[in-house]
Amino acid sequence: MDTKIVKIDDVKAQRDELQHAGEILRQGGLVAFPTETVYGLGANGLDGEACARIYDAKGRPSDNPLILHVANRSMVDQVAAKVPALAEKLMAAFCPGPITLILRRRSIVPDRITGGLDTVGIRMPEDDVARAMIKAAGVPIAAPSANISGRPSPTTAEAVAGDMAGRIPLILDGGPCRFGVESTIVDCTGDKAVILRPGAVTREMLTELLGEDHVNLDPALVGAKVVPKAPGMKYTHYAPKAPLTLIEGMPTRMARAFRREIERLQAQGHTVGVIASHEVLQELSDIVPAELMADYGHQQQLPAIAANIYEALRSFDDKPADVLLGEGTTDEGLGLAIMNRLHKASGFRTLPA
Ligand code: TXA
Ligand code: MG
Repeated sequence: MDTKIVKIDDVKAQRDELQHAGEILRQGGLVAFPTETVYGLGANGLDGEACARIYDAKGRPSDNPLILHVANRSMVDQVAAKVPALAEKLMAAFCPGPITLILRRRSIVPDRITGGLDTVGIRMPEDDVARAMIKAAGVPIAAPSANISGRPSPTTAEAVAGDMAGRIPLILDGGPCRFGVESTIVDCTGDKAVILRPGAVTREMLTELLGEDHVNLDPALVGAKVVPKAPGMKYTHYAPKAPLTLIEGMPTRMARAFRREIERLQAQGHTVGVIASHEVLQELSDIVPAELMADYGHQQQLPAIAANIYEALRSFDDKPADVLLGEGTTDEGLGLAIMNRLHKASGFRTLPA
């Protein structure tokens, strides 16, 4: 299958291209599209057979449910059976935006996409292209991140093409994603908001809105040996092609810890790639060649690190490094989302700085 990449700079001027994407979706086909978090791989969310094609294209386990992307409130009511007060509050504060709400589902939602659950994840993206595409399709759009299952999520159209070329007919290119990590997933089916996956709507933001006592983290996120409530969170994820180890600890100790570990690995004959802050990489230029470094931004700038992290992981796909070392961040604010992704990408292999 030929994969067409269409750059969308202006959703009004390019209505025809968006109508064409809507047409493919209505007919059961797949379209990759930008959102403010990561690129999604979309299908008609009311058509179980169309959604089955997503699982094929990604190689995704069939028990991992898809979230539905909507353009407005009436689409929420089309698929959610009940919108509790908690969810109303979250929608008023954060939608459209980088958050997914878990709600009770209506029977119109195909079983194929919920993995047998009686709930459904609903997300209202803020990105112009995403919104225009959903409106053009006229139906809720089921969409996971547009990567091959297990790989880092794509934050550019090129990264989507790297995984999906030949598997889907169309990629809408809206440029790099603003946030760069997937939406915060919040389970709204109980009396407290439970964060199932951290994202750009941070725990601190939720606490400020709802109060400390009304926000919980899924125990699986804080290392407890329990099955996570978001089925996808139990799978290996975001993994680069070479094994990654994280170095965690005080920023001031980082460079020295990296140097020690790099020298140890190099002495064993390894070619070491490093994913780290500008500050740490600067100190390692005498022992790591520039092409084996991925700079994820300045230590204190978490939004930039989030936006760069998946590209940094993917940048080693065709480099000779056989082992990777990555720098951990704080777990406050957006750092919780970044560390969640880095822990998964490393299979929880860590060293203290
Ligand atoms: O930012 C995002 O959320 C991106 C963009 C494309 O919107 N989408 C995304 O989808 O990250 P995906 O499929 O890669 O991750 C969705 C996660 C999975 O871990 C899945 O298990 C979980 O949401 N999930 C879906 N439905 C659920 C449900 N009813 N209850 C609990 N978790 C659910
Ligand atoms: Mg994903």
